[in-house]
Amino acid sequence: MKSPRKFFEPLAIGAPSPYRELPMRLERMIHFVPPHIEKLRAKAGELASQVDVILGNLEDAIPIEAKAAAREGFIAMARATDLGTTGLWARVNALNSPWFLDDMTRLVGEVGDRLDVIMLPKVEGPWDIHFIDQYLGLLEARHAVKKPILVHAILETAEGVNNVAEIARASPRLHGMSLGPADLAASRAMKTTRVGGGHPDYRVLADSGAPGEPRRAAQQDPWHYTIARMVDACAANGVKPFYGPFGDFADADACEAQFRNAFLLGCAGAWTLHPSQIAIAKRVFSPDPAEVAFAKRILAAMPDGSGAVMIDGKMQDDATWKQAKVIVDLARQVAAKDIEFAALYGF
Ligand code: GLV
Ligand code: MG
Repeated sequence: MKSPRKFFEPLAIGAPSPYRELPMRLERMIHFVPPHIEKLRAKAGELASQVDVILGNLEDAIPIEAKAAAREGFIAMARATDLGTTGLWARVNALNSPWFLDDMTRLVGEVGDRLDVIMLPKVEGPWDIHFIDQYLGLLEARHAVKKPILVHAILETAEGVNNVAEIARASPRLHGMSLGPADLAASRAMKTTRVGGGHPDYRVLADSGAPGEPRRAAQQDPWHYTIARMVDACAANGVKPFYGPFGDFADADACEAQFRNAFLLGCAGAWTLHPSQIAIAKRVFSPDPAEVAFAKRILAAMPDGSGAVMIDGKMQDDATWKQAKVIVDLARQVAAKDIEFAALYGF
């Protein structure tokens, strides 16, 4: 393991120093844009006022014959569009693909100073992060990039899940990670063709009731285990966990339920692949105004965060004060960006 002293040294002469604290940004939704489609990338400026992150997708879902056009389209979009405070990310192709090398050299060389985060798919272990870390350092140095480009891993292979804690602490360049349920399902040989969400056959059957009464059944969340592991690995290392894609665009309720489970367990945001999912992610990953109001009461009742008080019959102490602070801090971040939420939260 690298010595703690070296952890924050630049990996190449002339590369920017790694961040000691990650930039605090609101990232409730990472909105995917296919940059080879001119009509869609032309909308990026307009989209920027509605989403927290715009991501140009170069990997899966981009046809092989459009890979180069997607790369060039992303560069054109990054140059032409002022995104304001909205983050600009790119999902590059996998490390072992024929496109990765050109994705990296072209993107960092042409628009390295505009790029906040590179999303790296199919990360299997810390070695993948070490490789891209070093490679980015060299490219940043060559192109005099001023601030470090962060790396966001997709957790979408069984081996990646096995190594999730080591991935989360592999580099100060790591921004966080997203669960990729489609590739992960394939990697694990899960028997589902869905992209995220539940499955009607993954359920628990209640014991028999009265004679003649049907047995009740409840669907379970097949992603619970992975999301929980990812959240622990990320929280323990000060990086951010995200839920990834929800593929059934017509099922807004199921999408909202999946996003909400991820939010409640600790995720910071989710991917939005379709414009209809933007409002869902905004609603879910901005804390509930009633919860914020209650959390504010806890903080007000315990100004120094110690002792114990009762509020509406519920016990509050140092630990619930910290829980309340998580909610109020997030609400402040949301309010600073979204005026409508500032009013709802009373800031
Ligand atoms: C996302 O990339 C996924 O495989 O779900
Ligand atoms: Mg994938």
